[in-house]
Amino acid sequence: MAMLVTGAAGCIGAWVLHHLVKRGEPVIAFDIVRAGHRIEQLLTIKEQQLVTFVQGDVSDFITVKGLFEQHPITHVIHLAALPVPFCRADPVRGAQVNVIGTVNVFEAARRRDIKHIAYASSVAVFGAPEDYKETALSDHAAARPRTMYGAYKQANEATARVYFYDHKMTSIGLRPHTAYGVGQDQGLPSDLTKAMMHAVASKPYHINFNGRLQLQLASDVALQFIEAATHPLDQAYVFNMGGPVVSVDEVITLIQRNRPQAKITHGETVRPYVEQLDDSGLRQHLKAYETPLEVGVQQTMSLYADLMQRGQIVV
Ligand SMILES: NC(=O)c1ccc[n+]([C@@H]2O[C@H](COP(=O)([O-])OP(=O)(O)OC[C@H]3O[C@@H](n4cnc5c(N)ncnc54)[C@H](O)[C@@H]3O)[C@@H](O)[C@H]2O)c1
Repeated sequence: MAMLVTGAAGCIGAWVLHHLVKRGEPVIAFDIVRAGHRIEQLLTIKEQQLVTFVQGDVSDFITVKGLFEQHPITHVIHLAALPVPFCRADPVRGAQVNVIGTVNVFEAARRRDIKHIAYASSVAVFGAPEDYKETALSDHAAARPRTMYGAYKQANEATARVYFYDHKMTSIGLRPHTAYGVGQDQGLPSDLTKAMMHAVASKPYHINFNGRLQLQLASDVALQFIEAATHPLDQAYVFNMGGPVVSVDEVITLIQRNRPQAKITHGETVRPYVEQLDDSGLRQHLKAYETPLEVGVQQTMSLYADLMQRGQIVV
């Protein structure tokens, strides 16, 4: 097996590399940036030497086609994407990376006769809580994205479906809600992880949002993508990811359980996403990875403590 991971320098991508290298699997890491701080935090220098790094732009078809031609890729985890604020600020570039980039990966894989792809969708395909009667949305709830990013993820799901209709290529799209853990350091939801990091460094932190959200440990999300890439099903599936639904206050309480002196406050902005996704479809078809929240928070804080002790993170 040789796994291609696009967006490998991102938070989930770096955790995918971490798990694959620990299993001794060959991995080709593709990203527009080379390696980067998340990979340095999660893989030793020796482990990084086991990874084939390729730097390139997923929105360029010639590059992606060349990637598949030059490396013995057998499995694919497609994560490369621009997040919400970038898509809002530059919708054209957002579409090039998130929509065209995904078509490029499917098309280049198809031309090399690869039969299955795992790719990242998102809770952002759904709308705000007031758009739905149910509180926990099933895999088949209507997509009503309120962001360009969500609209692009919806297009990715449709792309995957059409590759099945046209070419019998199977796929599994996963819709994470909100990842936390080492490496999650970009965008509004990363404030929860940054609060954990600051608590370890005995520094105060202000979380810029409030509300309830479904949390997934980044390491678990990565394991779920590996599972999805290595366990093809019979068609194009999209699964919601599960996880505990908690308030920002509950997360602060858990952080303070590990560091009682931690000074953490929060703002009042509520993100425009439904609070809970029902992951029964995923559980019916795949092994599910769900570290209990208190364990995940504790693991994240102790990994930050190690990284700070080694001088790899300075807060
Ligand atoms: N982290 C979450 O909470 C969450 C929630 C829902 C969905 N997702 C999705 O999961 C996937 C991984 O998330 P993440 O948190 O690791 O994201 P991330 O932003 O940390 O990583 C994305 C990676 O894609 C790379 N990238 C951007 N443009 C590129 C381009 N043109 N060519 C090649 N690479 C490019 C970036 O350099 C980055 O390393 C993404 O598709 C994201 O939309 C994440």
